[in-house]
Amino acid sequence: MTLDTIPVPEPKKGRMLPARLCDLAVLLKVQLAAVNPIDWKLFSGGLHGICPVTFPYVPGFDVAGKVAKVGEGVTDFAVGDEVVVDIGLCETCCNDSPAGPCGAFAEYAVALADTVAKRDGLSAEELVGLPLAGLTSYQALFTGAGRDFTGAELGKVAEGKKVLILGGAAATGAIAIQLGKAVGAYVTTTASPNKMPDGSTKIDYMKKLGADEVINYKEADWADALAGKEYDQIYDCVGTPEDSVVKVADYAAECGL
Ligand SMILES: NC(=O)c1ccc[n+]([C@@H]2O[C@H](COP(=O)([O-])OP(=O)(O)OC[C@H]3O[C@@H](n4cnc5c(N)ncnc54)[C@H](OP(=O)(O)O)[C@@H]3O)[C@@H](O)[C@H]2O)c1
Repeated sequence: MTLDTIPVPEPKKGRMLPARLCDLAVLLKVQLAAVNPIDWKLFSGGLHGICPVTFPYVPGFDVAGKVAKVGEGVTDFAVGDEVVVDIGLCETCCNDSPAGPCGAFAEYAVALADTVAKRDGLSAEELVGLPLAGLTSYQALFTGAGRDFTGAELGKVAEGKKVLILGGAAATGAIAIQLGKAVGAYVTTTASPNKMPDGSTKIDYMKKLGADEVINYKEADWADALAGKEYDQIYDCVGTPEDSVVKVADYAAECGL
C-alpha cells in the first residue's frame, strides 16, 4: 500500500459509475473514515476470489464528511451538508470493478446520493462507524437477506422473537443488540470481561445496550450454556475457528432453524 497524491475523484461513467448514475452522485470532503474488517481482508488479498479489486484502488468504506459538489440530478443535498455514508455500496453498481471504487481513505470521495444520510446534528465521530456495521446488522436482522437450512427466509426479528447474537461487543453485534431491543425482541449475547475505554467490562456494556442475557465466553461455552433453549435467529458477529460456522450450524439445527 502506498500514500499518493491523486486527482480529486469525479463521478464518471465506466470505472466509477455507470452513466445513468453519474448525475445522481455527490462529491464529499472527507472529515473522518472508519476502519472495518473488510479493509484488512481486502488488503490481505484474501477476498480476491469473491471481491476482486482493480488497481489503482483507494480503500475505505465508511465516510463522515461534507458535501462538496452535487450531481445535476441530485435534489436532496446541497454543498456544505454534513453527512455519513458507506461508499462501498457503489460496489453493487460497478460492472468493471466489483469491489467498487470505495475510497474513504482519501481527502475526497464520491457517493451515490441515495446512499447518503444527513447527520442531523450528530458529530462525525459519533456516526462514522455506523453505516457499514449498521447496515450489515440491519440486513441480518430485518430484511430477509439470509435463508435457514430449510430455505425459509431469515432476518425477521420482531417483537417476542428470540435472537442470539454471538460477539455482542463487536461493532456489528453492539448495533444488533440495540436493533433487536428496539423492536421488542429477547436478546442473548456473548462477551468477555475485557475492559471498555471507560473501565467497565464488555459484559456490563452489553447490559447497558439492553441485552437480556450475557454469556461470558471466557468462562462458558455458549452452546453448552444455551443447550435446550430455542432461538428464532442466530447472528454470528465473531466467526473465529473456535466458534466455527459448523458449531453455529449445529446449534441452529438444535433450535430447528
Ligand atoms: N464491521 C462491519 O461493518 C462488518 C460488515 C460485514 C461483516 N463484518 C464481519 O463481522 C465480523 C465482526 O466484525 P466487527 O467489525 O463487528 O468486529 P469488531 O468490532 O472487530 O469486534 C471484535 C469484538 O469481538 C469480540 N470477540 C472476540 N472473540 C469473541 C468470541 N469468541 N466471542 C464473543 N466475542 C468475541 C472482541 O472482544 P474481546 O476479544 O475483548 O472479548 C471484540 O469486542 C467480522 O468477521 C467482519 O468481517 C463486519
